[in-house]
Amino acid sequence: MTTTPGTGPAKVRLRHLQDAKDRGRPFSMLTAYDQFSAQAFEAAGIEVLLVGDSVGTTVLGHTSTTATTHQDMLTFTGAVARSVRRPLIVADLAFGTYETGPADAVRHGVELVRAGAEVVKLEGGQAVLPQVRALVDAGIPVMGHLGFTPQSVNSLSGHRVQGRDAAGADQLAENAVALAEAGVSAMVLELMPAAAAARITEVVPVPTIGIGAGPDCDGQVLVWQDMAGMSGFEGKFVKAFAHLRRDLQHAAEAYRAEVEGRQYPGPEHSFD
Ligand code: KIV
Repeated sequence: MTTTPGTGPAKVRLRHLQDAKDRGRPFSMLTAYDQFSAQAFEAAGIEVLLVGDSVGTTVLGHTSTTATTHQDMLTFTGAVARSVRRPLIVADLAFGTYETGPADAVRHGVELVRAGAEVVKLEGGQAVLPQVRALVDAGIPVMGHLGFTPQSVNSLSGHRVQGRDAAGADQLAENAVALAEAGVSAMVLELMPAAAAARITEVVPVPTIGIGAGPDCDGQVLVWQDMAGMSGFEGKFVKAFAHLRRDLQHAAEAYRAEVEGRQYPGPEHSFD
């Protein structure tokens, strides 16, 4: 499969990501929460769209993804799923919807699939293995998430790189292998040394998708507002490929100036 828009499969499936790993072809995932951004990313050939619980901090004005609710995830998953055809759609299980056990994980996973998710993502290692197995047994593909896990920001004492020492890196690798054995189809590796992510990518059979985890993961993911210079977040691992916040401000300033100068609307925008 190639990443050129207009070529490759009409619909991206998990097997295409596995094929990408097996062939050593990097692939890209972006977060998406709404119709127009999702359609722009589809047109750009982005293969995987993640309806992340980061919608809470990027769209809904919360300071932590722990505030994002299951209803939020259903609403935004539906918006993205209705808007695109080709990308694989992954949706986060919100904080509090799966930690309580496999039955809750399956119940909420089923609702996300009904809303349009094709894969559900949850955070954690050993503690969530029963949930992963139950979801897979229910026919719901699962994406894992290791390293810095934002829903645990309080117990991790803030946004910190994980697995910096040998014991920490070993633990991450053990969790990654355990998640793969439990049946995850892919896993996000967030905020960890590049060497730790490279080691996991080498030892697990499923695709790894990095964010702040170096260049050796099978795929990469960014929050779209960071990728496009909309959020203004300038973390070390982020590269802004556009300056949407600045451009949007300039557009709004130009609009305001034309309204105040009675230049807009002109005759061409008015009805006889
Ligand atoms: O919710 C999200 O945006 C995520 C990414 C950080 C991978 O989980």
